[in-house]
Amino acid sequence: MLLPSVSTVNALVVGATQGIGLEFVKQLLQDSRIETLFATYRSAETATDLLALSNQHPQRLHCLPIDVTEEAQIESALAQITAAKPNLHIVVNCVGLLHNEQQQPEKALRQLNSDNLLNYFRINSIGPALLAKHLLPVLKHPEPSLFATISAKIGSIGDNRIGGWYGYRASKAALNMFLKTASIEYRRRSPKTTIVMLHPGTTDTGLSKPFQRGVPPEKLFSPERTVSQLIGVLASVKNEDSGEFFSWDGARLPW
Ligand SMILES: NC(=O)c1ccc[n+]([C@@H]2O[C@H](COP(=O)([O-])OP(=O)(O)OC[C@H]3O[C@@H](n4cnc5c(N)ncnc54)[C@H](OP(=O)(O)O)[C@@H]3O)[C@@H](O)[C@H]2O)c1
Repeated sequence: MLLPSVSTVNALVVGATQGIGLEFVKQLLQDSRIETLFATYRSAETATDLLALSNQHPQRLHCLPIDVTEEAQIESALAQITAAKPNLHIVVNCVGLLHNEQQQPEKALRQLNSDNLLNYFRINSIGPALLAKHLLPVLKHPEPSLFATISAKIGSIGDNRIGGWYGYRASKAALNMFLKTASIEYRRRSPKTTIVMLHPGTTDTGLSKPFQRGVPPEKLFSPERTVSQLIGVLASVKNEDSGEFFSWDGARLPW
């Protein structure tokens, strides 16, 4: 159980339209202690499943737009959340980019392109840092709070043995550094908040779809399995673990 000492929980899932984020919304809705669940989408076009869920749970699930590359949208969504609930207990950021119509992960240096690299950093690294900036006032309160961001083991510099995927790797490494640094500031300014980065394991979502060939079936998790594993990890995380990077099985990952 997440934050067992809190009887009434307000939670937020950022990047809740697909894959791991949408599944977090589904599983958090099953926790009856969660009174209010905010969930964000970038565009209503890709948010049909999430918006349908909010129609089924109009009292508990509230959807708001956030494109993490637009700081004003982060500010505006948090202003709306604070007006409804001044305190949040759980925030899970599931936003991430590996590929889209315009860009694919780079296999070789000759494929590097500064606009594409910048896009990885804006979505995968700077977005989560701006979330940490704007979340501080809502996570800072007398009860414990938790801010988890989905990172990726591929962002581990120590674990990088096969190379490739320059922008994605580097942006996840930068994400880890941003949030490790934020955890140190939070320790001073909001000591009851625990910040962690999570590696979900290879999960069957749109993000991994083009790259699943060669992944043994037992190593390709369903979103349901991934999220229940990550909720298990988050349930066992302690405040002194703030700033750490955990794998889906609870193991600490090297930087
Ligand atoms: N799947 C895996 O095997 C795997 C492995 C390791 C790490 N991860 C990480 O896990 C996290 C979730 O990935 P996933 O597999 O669930 O991918 P996914 O199904 O592609 O979902 C990605 C989510 O990020 C959102 N997003 C993208 N750009 C955004 C932006 N600028 N602002 C706000 N939201 C934005 C997407 O929203 P839209 O619907 O609007 O596009 C979508 O909700 C990511 O951080 C990913 O790097 C995944």
